[in-house]
Amino acid sequence: MSATAITDIRALEIIDDRGRPTIRAWVEVESGRRGWADVPCGSSTGSYEAFDLRDGDGRYGGRGVQKAIGNIHDVLRPALIGSDAAAQRFVDRLMIDLDGTPDKSRLGGNAILAVSMACARAAAAALELPLYRHLSSDGHVLPVPQASLLNGGLHAGNDVDVQEFCVMPVGSPTASEAIRLLAEVFDVLRTLLRREHGPTATNFSEDGGFAPPLRSSREAMELLSRAVEDAGYADDVVYGLDVAATGLYDETDGTYRFDGRRRSREEMIAAQVELVRDFPSIVSIEDPLQQDDLEGWRTVVGELPGVMIIGDDLTATNIGRLRLAIGAGAITGALCKVNQIGTLSEAMDAARYSVRRGCPVVMSVRSGETEDDILSDVSVALNAGLFKTGGLHGSDRGANYNRFLEIEAELGPVARYAGRDYARLD
Ligand code: PGA
Ligand code: ZN
Repeated sequence: MSATAITDIRALEIIDDRGRPTIRAWVEVESGRRGWADVPCGSSTGSYEAFDLRDGDGRYGGRGVQKAIGNIHDVLRPALIGSDAAAQRFVDRLMIDLDGTPDKSRLGGNAILAVSMACARAAAAALELPLYRHLSSDGHVLPVPQASLLNGGLHAGNDVDVQEFCVMPVGSPTASEAIRLLAEVFDVLRTLLRREHGPTATNFSEDGGFAPPLRSSREAMELLSRAVEDAGYADDVVYGLDVAATGLYDETDGTYRFDGRRRSREEMIAAQVELVRDFPSIVSIEDPLQQDDLEGWRTVVGELPGVMIIGDDLTATNIGRLRLAIGAGAITGALCKVNQIGTLSEAMDAARYSVRRGCPVVMSVRSGETEDDILSDVSVALNAGLFKTGGLHGSDRGANYNRFLEIEAELGPVARYAGRDYARLD
């Protein structure tokens, strides 16, 4: 048997950064080495995502994951023992076939993803390779963080509608300098918020950014750009927004609740065009409209030619959805979240698919995270130019930043920070 043949698989119910249950899995291989992984979970989830299997009983308000864990022990474990953990695509395919549904609803996308990611780590450990190197021989790009320092929407208990206001330190020379810039801006922002809006304005969102009691997107952008200026970095950053418009959409009357009133699709687009006109350093907007309005998205792409229009709920890390959106001219960039599709190899395929078709990829964690930093390795393996992991508060957010710092140091002279080449297509 090879050193990377799977000998055991175990899983445990743990809690995430919101105090909600999720899965931690371990895969053990013949050499005796083990790999672990935790499954993230969104709160502004779209309807095209892989199925997140929850118990629906009295425990944890119905959110328990004992059934998914049962599926790992009773179905995936016996089927996978003896398979080669280093053959990621084969292991993932075996699980997809065992599940047999298009959205992984029989065994649970969360059960399958836990094993998929733990396999990758177990194989890397047995081969004595860093995970990014096991996943690709060419990984060397450190992505520009799209750091959401200020939050609203479903991620914050305030009246701001845009879910994420992100600072992108494109002018920094290295990832470590970029992270220092973000930390310094975060501190200045904290001082500004406390001084102008009182101490409660420095409370945190689910993303580890601030969730101040502001009234509009404009006010949020003004504050954020002021913090960047005061910190001395106005020339080094651009901005990205995640409007997460599916969460603002009322399907009963087809309107959006945005910046204090109900808006039609056209008004919603006009509001975003106006925001970009007033803040021309906004270079990226994610989910500007709800997840089914392809025609509206196409209009946004036409009206905002200099802005990357990024699919999240619309495309759901799913090649079928990406084909549809790219074919319709509805996006010019795509998010990649591993748990939207449910296996590591499918997520990496989706990222490569987007890039090959001219849509830069943004690797992204979820609002519900743990200390697991696996996505940083996946990002470097893909040479992705952009990465979303939230603000600077909490070790659930810090985990990925810190992993990038480790990888950059480990790569030494071959490390390359994406910087102004964040929309990279190779
Ligand atoms: P989620 O939010 O993890 O709650 O879905 C992240 C995002 O919308 O990008
Ligand atoms: Zn999003």
